[in-house]
Amino acid sequence: MVEKQESRNQAIVAMMELANMTNVPMALNAVIRLNVPDAIWHGGANAPLSAAQILARVRPDGDAENLQRLLRVLSSYGVFHEHLAAGERKYSLTHVGETLVADERGLSHAHYVLQHHQEELMRAWALVHEAVVDPRKEPFERANGEAAYRYYVKKPEMNELMQKAMSGISVPFMRVMLEGYDGFHGVEKLVDVGGSAGDCLRMILHKHPSINQAINFDLPQVVANAPPIPRVTHVGGDMFKTIPQGDAIFIRWVLTGCTDEECKYIMQNCHKILPEGGKLIVCEPALPEDSDESHRTRALLAADIFMMTMYRAKGKHRTEEQFRQLGISVGFPHFRVFHVDPFFTVFEFQK
Ligand SMILES: C[S@@+](CC[C@H](N)C(=O)[O-])C[C@H]1O[C@@H](n2cnc3c(N)ncnc32)[C@H](O)[C@@H]1O
Repeated sequence: MVEKQESRNQAIVAMMELANMTNVPMALNAVIRLNVPDAIWHGGANAPLSAAQILARVRPDGDAENLQRLLRVLSSYGVFHEHLAAGERKYSLTHVGETLVADERGLSHAHYVLQHHQEELMRAWALVHEAVVDPRKEPFERANGEAAYRYYVKKPEMNELMQKAMSGISVPFMRVMLEGYDGFHGVEKLVDVGGSAGDCLRMILHKHPSINQAINFDLPQVVANAPPIPRVTHVGGDMFKTIPQGDAIFIRWVLTGCTDEECKYIMQNCHKILPEGGKLIVCEPALPEDSDESHRTRALLAADIFMMTMYRAKGKHRTEEQFRQLGISVGFPHFRVFHVDPFFTVFEFQK
């Protein structure tokens, strides 16, 4: 009887936590908007500071008690360390919190958080159930009248934030990938499909000087904002119409936003364009088979719902086996998988 009550109590608090879970990313968004991570980091000092001391650096007229409330909840989720001494609470950044600190190029995971919590995206979250009722239209489009990428490119500030968010995630991933994956050897002309501002190509070319030509291919309005990069030509277009030719094709974080039919179509076109022995190198989040409670599985499942809600109701995170099957279905006889990063997996399809 006591056991039953105990388990019921646990169930109730677990549900109370779930019911209010939105507070966590919104608190995260708030501290980023207030520039708290950089203020604590302070050039690497990361010394514990009270809410009032943090505010003195970023917003002297702000309310310290309310900032402390945000810091407390985020400490509970591992973003800050809480140092409690003589009744005073002070906060420093954990390793998780450090991912929000801008590097020498101004990049961090902070832009990704900000990008995900813009008003237009928040409106779509209220309509997630519509992706079940009728998946022909994404919740984002229902909420905002237009598909997300088409919407972003019409709003310069959204477009810019999207590019910064992509760079903030891509740059640390590419560092790790280029250490652990050697499949670019021998490539002379590389095409990046959906390459955004060209950060991935910049890093690949830096590591592989033998690649003497590269094309960063993305929507015209996206490449219009991309900075010049030596040996890279920015080409605007639509991957569903045509893909520029190269002896290897790189696609990162794009197929996830496509239905199975669209993936097949794109991969089939890549297969046609590639010379014999040419590679299609794909980096996408890969779903585990189990729905366990690890941070990795949760991050992958959560981003899958984000995909369904914002970009493509029938786009999805796929398992390794689903990628293998896609490759086979469009005629790639060789398939290799590289686990170089906990979130993104590298899939190499060779003709
Ligand atoms: C999630 S972002 C990934 C960006 C980049 N590959 C990276 O990993 O940082 C997806 C990219 O696909 C581009 N994209 C979406 N639809 C496209 C289309 N029809 N043709 C070409 N690019 C497209 C977007 O503009 C965006 O830059």
